[in-house]
Amino acid sequence: MSHDTSSLNKQRQDLSAYESVWLFGYGSLIYKVDFPYLERKPASITGWSRRFWQGSHDHRGTPESPGRVLTLIETPGEQCTGMAYRVSPEVFEHLDHREKNGYLRFFTPMQFNDGHQADGLVYIASKDNAAFLGDAPLSDIAAHIARSRGPSGENSEYLLKLSQGLRDLGVVDPHVEGIRQHLEPLLKGQE
Ligand code: BEZ
Repeated sequence: MSHDTSSLNKQRQDLSAYESVWLFGYGSLIYKVDFPYLERKPASITGWSRRFWQGSHDHRGTPESPGRVLTLIETPGEQCTGMAYRVSPEVFEHLDHREKNGYLRFFTPMQFNDGHQADGLVYIASKDNAAFLGDAPLSDIAAHIARSRGPSGENSEYLLKLSQGLRDLGVVDPHVEGIRQHLEPLLKGQE
């Protein structure tokens, strides 16, 4: 699959009949909210884990030197907590462009902390997309993040803001925190 998934996403779900749609954010959508929303609340999805396994050619890296950003990987039994936003369908035009580097949107069931459930759209970069990087030791992922930057800024800023955003939600994600522990000494060494 090519990197630019924005036109594919427009064809995936016809959202025109919806007055509003839930969006599930598990990564940059937690801390970078550059879109209007009607309501937001913490939510979880089941059977998925966050992983820094996707290449970023357009935000935290370049085509020549991709950064590492999040995708979701199917993990039976795991829960992934993030932030759900109720948005008007037009917001997906902005998000499809912002998240165009290999991400396709899927409807998924979400559980809210208050016990309610709803279906929401989530962006996932699957293993068959051209920018997928896959697994590596946490120390290698941290070193990759420490040296990467792109039009949206330092790759390390993405990880550190995500870590803080998750803590604000009361979530300590072992994958994210494991990378942060390797990353912080590398960043100190660059000062
Ligand atoms: C998210 O925060 O949900 C997200 C992460 C990467 C790409 C698209 C969305």
